[in-house]
Amino acid sequence: MDRIIIHGGNRLQGTIHIGGAKNAALPLLAACLLSDETLVLSNLPHLADISTMAHLLADFGVDISMNGDAGNGGNIGRTFELNAGAVVETTAPYDLVRKMRASILVLGPLLARFGKARVSLPGGCAIGTRPVDLHLEALAQLGAEIELDDGYINAKVNGRLKGAHIIFPMVTVGGTENLLMAATLADGETVLANAAREPEVSDLARCLVAMGADIEGIGTDTLRIRGCDHLHGAEHSVVPDRIETGTYAVAAAVTDGDLLLKGTRLDLIESVADILRKAGVEITDTGDGLRVRRASGGIRGIDVTTEPFPGFPTDMQAQLMVLAAVADGASTITETIFENRYMHVPELTRMGADIHVHGSTATVRGGGGLKGAPVMATDLRASVSLVLAGLAADGETSVSRVYHLDRGYERLEEKLSACGAVIERIKS
Ligand code: UD1
Repeated sequence: MDRIIIHGGNRLQGTIHIGGAKNAALPLLAACLLSDETLVLSNLPHLADISTMAHLLADFGVDISMNGDAGNGGNIGRTFELNAGAVVETTAPYDLVRKMRASILVLGPLLARFGKARVSLPGGCAIGTRPVDLHLEALAQLGAEIELDDGYINAKVNGRLKGAHIIFPMVTVGGTENLLMAATLADGETVLANAAREPEVSDLARCLVAMGADIEGIGTDTLRIRGCDHLHGAEHSVVPDRIETGTYAVAAAVTDGDLLLKGTRLDLIESVADILRKAGVEITDTGDGLRVRRASGGIRGIDVTTEPFPGFPTDMQAQLMVLAAVADGASTITETIFENRYMHVPELTRMGADIHVHGSTATVRGGGGLKGAPVMATDLRASVSLVLAGLAADGETSVSRVYHLDRGYERLEEKLSACGAVIERIKS
């Protein structure tokens, strides 16, 4: 298994290009199933999860051609042309779904267009049980008949799905996306209340509108969709990755560096920028991106609670903990979205961080400095937090199980070493 070795202590300086958002690209890819015409998606990141979704779609019979590779030294995303005009299969097998939970996003589109879908249950994962009950209950409200057997979700509908008023009992990003896609081809009007407002949901909604869908309330917690008979082809560019943006912003902060993050937007990371500024980080909008550096003075402790958008994202919690570990003073971090999302804590502790977890709150006492150590990645964001810690630490850090990183960070070592980090991947 590959490892990443980091010699910490270097200030990061330079420019990093931010790619398209993985979490927007995955539902956008699934959206191609809603039409028999071609969907062209550009600014797609080159990541393992994107390949997994493309593989799943190709197995259904979707014709996918890749147009042009990531140009400009890999700094321009890929473009896929997807045509689901000749879909032959509507089963998403366990082997692919277990690799990537987001495979569940094909359920809504398959059911809406073909009237049936069989999708393996994703099962548990490293950051909690993560059920899909809310997806299934909401699809049932649209008239789907759903049965679970042999670890599979079997869904079918007689005729078309029927519009309904759905109130999500809790905010679910994937659930909102699945229902949004399904409702575009349903008969009549669907209202999704307490819908997720994440930028990736809005990006999907905008693409669906470009395909001919009638959606009101984009960016709010109430989406109103008037179903139609047919969606057409469209072209859409994937929104920049706010989590990649936030991660490199923390990299600048913890190394006392100065980074220009190109191709991203402040409005995508307002809550993260707010916390970073409170911690003593300067973030400037440059028009084509963001400049991030430490303001004069050290990093201060912060108090943060993860929440659905526009609150502080759970996907930035682990990275922020590294900032807290190098701050002067104490911080508290409360995780409200996922149980069991503190798997980076024991690893950070091995690097000298002073962190105590009580229930869903972690107290971090900074000021002690971090020291390089061998550590193990456990999930995507936990892994990148260990890389950030390695950049800030004295000495050598070796991060094993880095395949988690490849699911969500494109050319991580290359982007960081171009800005002065001493980081390399050891293949094995
Ligand atoms: C998406 C993101 C993930 C992010 C998360 C929260 C993608 C591909 N992944 O995941 O990176 O961390 O949003 O911002 O976009 N829940 C249920 N039942 C359900 C669905 C969800 O109980 O049917 C619970 C989950 O266990 C979790 C909470 O709701 O506690 C939020 O989950 P959700 O917003 O659905 O996350 P994902 O869409 O899986």
